[in-house]
Amino acid sequence: MGQELLSFCPTEAKRLLWIVGMLFALILVLQHLELPYGSNLSSVLTAGQVPVEKNSSFRARDPSSTVNMVGNESVSNGLDDTATHPFHEIANNNKTSDLVSDGSGGSERTLEIDEDEDESGSLVKENATDITLSEERTEKGSNTTDPGGNENTGFPTTPPPAYPPVNPSLNTSPVVVETDVGAPIISVDSNVPLVEKDQTPSSEKTDKSEQLHSGLNETGKDSSVPRVPVVNKVPEVSTLEVYTISDMNKVLHHSWTSYHSMIPQWSSPADQEMQDAASQIENAPIIKNDPNLYAPLYRNLSMFKRSYELMESTLKVYVYREGQRPIMHTPVLKGIYASEGWFMKQLEDHKRFVTKDPQKAHLYYLPFSSRMLEERLYVQGSHSHKNLIEYLKNYLDMIAGKYPFWNRTGGADHFLVACHDWAPSETKKYMAKCIRALCNADMKEGFVFGKDASLPETYVQNSKNPLRDLGGNRPSKRSILAFFAGSMHGYVRPILLQHWENKDPDMKIFGRLPKSKGNKIYVRHMKSSKYCICAKGYEVNSPRVVEAIFYECVPVIISDNFVPPFFEVLKWESFAVFVLEKDIPNLKDILLSIPKKRYLQMQMRVKRVQQHFLWHARPEKYDIFHMILHSIWYNRLHRI
Ligand SMILES: *[C@@H]1O[C@H](CO)[C@@H](O)[C@H](O)[C@H]1NC(C)=O
Ligand SMILES: *[C@@H]1O[C@H](CO)[C@@H](O)[C@H](O)[C@H]1NC(C)=O
Ligand SMILES: *[C@@H]1O[C@H](CO)[C@@H](O)[C@H](O)[C@H]1NC(C)=O
Repeated sequence: MGQELLSFCPTEAKRLLWIVGMLFALILVLQHLELPYGSNLSSVLTAGQVPVEKNSSFRARDPSSTVNMVGNESVSNGLDDTATHPFHEIANNNKTSDLVSDGSGGSERTLEIDEDEDESGSLVKENATDITLSEERTEKGSNTTDPGGNENTGFPTTPPPAYPPVNPSLNTSPVVVETDVGAPIISVDSNVPLVEKDQTPSSEKTDKSEQLHSGLNETGKDSSVPRVPVVNKVPEVSTLEVYTISDMNKVLHHSWTSYHSMIPQWSSPADQEMQDAASQIENAPIIKNDPNLYAPLYRNLSMFKRSYELMESTLKVYVYREGQRPIMHTPVLKGIYASEGWFMKQLEDHKRFVTKDPQKAHLYYLPFSSRMLEERLYVQGSHSHKNLIEYLKNYLDMIAGKYPFWNRTGGADHFLVACHDWAPSETKKYMAKCIRALCNADMKEGFVFGKDASLPETYVQNSKNPLRDLGGNRPSKRSILAFFAGSMHGYVRPILLQHWENKDPDMKIFGRLPKSKGNKIYVRHMKSSKYCICAKGYEVNSPRVVEAIFYECVPVIISDNFVPPFFEVLKWESFAVFVLEKDIPNLKDILLSIPKKRYLQMQMRVKRVQQHFLWHARPEKYDIFHMILHSIWYNRLHRI
C-alpha cells in the first residue's frame, strides 16, 4: 500500500511520511514530558520499532520495568542524568520530615540505639498517607524540572518485591553466599546472567538510547546538560536486577579496562605526575605480605601499597575557599552522616594533602555538607530537592566561572564527599563527572564503578572519643549466632523480622531496642554475636557495616546492589558475608553452613581490616580518612 502510494502519488506519500514522522516525534516528546503515559507509549514505540526496548535484554520483573530501565539507561549513559526516583525521594523526604519533626536533626540523640533510625515507627506511619498523596505531585513536579528522564512509573509506593513466602521450604532458589576461600557454600544462581553475557547488548543499548536522545534535542531539552568538554565512554550500563559481589567485581574490572579517559582542555604538570603514579602502580613491586597490611584483605596488596605510598608522597588537593557557611566548610562531627564532616575537617585541618596553589593540585575538593544542605534548604513537606540541586549548581557555576579548573576536565578531577541519603540524586546531574564519595552507594542510583567511591557510613556518638568501646569478645565468647536491631525502615527489615523475630533462640533479630545509656544493649549484642546483620534501611547503606567491624563481629550484608566501602581495593568476600534479599528465609542455614574454621578466619580478618574504618582525632596511617582519600585518588588514577 505504501509503496503503491509512493509510486503513484509521490507528493501525497511524502506528506504522509511527514505526518507519520511528526507523530513519532510528538510521541517521543510526550514520552519525555508525561510520566503517566510512559508505559503506554513505550509499547507504542515497540510496536513502531523504535529501537528502545526491543533489544533490552533486561530481565523484566514486571511490565513496567522496561520503562524503568529506559530511565536507568539515561542515567548511566551520562547523556541525561535527570532520571529521578520518585520512590526514593519520597521515602527520603519522609525520612527527613520525621527527622526534623523529631526535633533533633540526628546529631543530638546520642542515647538512641540506632541513629540510622532517626525516627520512630509511628511517625513513619503517619506520613505514609502523605507519601501516597504527594506522589503524583512529586512526579509531576519532576517532569517540569527534569525534562527527559523521568520514566520511573514502575516504582510502587509501597515496597513490593516478590519475596518468597514465609515457608523456607518453598523457596527453591539457590542461595548466594560469597566467600573467597571457603568455596561457595551454596551454589550461585545460574539463572542470573553474568555481566559479560550482557555486555554487547548494553553497549548497543547505549547507542540506541543516544539516538533516542539526539532525536529529542530539538526540543531544547538537552541544553540543561552541563558543560561536558570531551566525549568519554561510560563504563557500564546496569543490566542486572541484582548484582552479586562477583558481578560487581566484574563491573569494576570492566570499568578499569574499558574506560577511555577524556582529554583535558590543556594538560598540567599534575596530569603528568598522575600518569607517572599510575604506571608505577601498574608495575608495583610484588609484595607477599606486610606487617601492617594483611594480604588476603586486598584485591592486590602490591598495588594498594604502592598506590597508598604514592598518594602520601604526591597527592595535593585544592580546597575551594569559596562558599558560605554553614552549607560549605562546616563539618558535622556527630550522628550518622558524620563521615562527610570528619573527612572535611581532617582534610582542611591536616594540611598534609592540601595545596594553596590550585595549579599544583591533582584533585579539587568541593567542600559542602550534604547534611547541612538538607538541614538549611529543604522545605518541609515540599518533597522537592530542586532548590538543593539549584544551590549546588550555582556554586558550581561560580567555581567554573572564577577558576579555569572545572572546565578543563568537566569536573573529572573534582570530588565531593557526601553521606546524606539524597546526595546521589542531588549530585547526579551537574556533578555527574565528579568523583563522588557517597554513603548511599547504590548501583541502581547512578553509582559509577571506577569513578565514584563508596563512603563508609559511620555513626559517631562521641566526637571527642570516636574510639570509645572499640573491640568485642573473642570468638569463643560470642554466644549469639546473629544479631540485628533497628527500626522498620524500607522493605527489607520487615521481611527479616517476619522470618526471624522470636523464631529461634540463635537468631537475635529485633525491631528497635529500648533506649539505654550509651547504647549499651546494642553494643553488648554486637560484641557478643558471631554475625551482625546489616540489613538495608530506606537506602542501601547502613552504619551497621562499620559498627560490626568496630565491634569485631562478622558483617552479614543484606542490601542488594550496595557497593561496600573501599570496594576498589578491599576483597570484601574475604571478611564479610553477602546474602541476597531474596534469601532472607534461608539466613540461618546460610550462616550455619559456614564452617567454624572459615568463621574464625573471617573474624580474624575483620579485626585486621578494622584499622581502615576508624576515625582518629588526628589522622593516622591507613585509617578511614586516608582510605577515603585513597579511594578518590585511586579512582582518578584509573581515569588518567
Ligand atoms: C541535534 O543534535 C544533532 C547531533 O548532535 C545536531 O547536529 C543538531 O544541530 C542538534 N539540533 C539542535 C536543534 O540542537
Ligand atoms: C598485583 O599487581 C601487580 C602489578 O600490577 C601484578 O604484577 C600482580 O600479578 C598482581 N597480583 C595479583 C595477585 O593479582
Ligand atoms: C567555563 O564554562 C562555562 C560554561 O561554558 C562558562 O560560563 C565559564 O565562563 C567558563 N569558565 C571559564 C573560567 O572560562
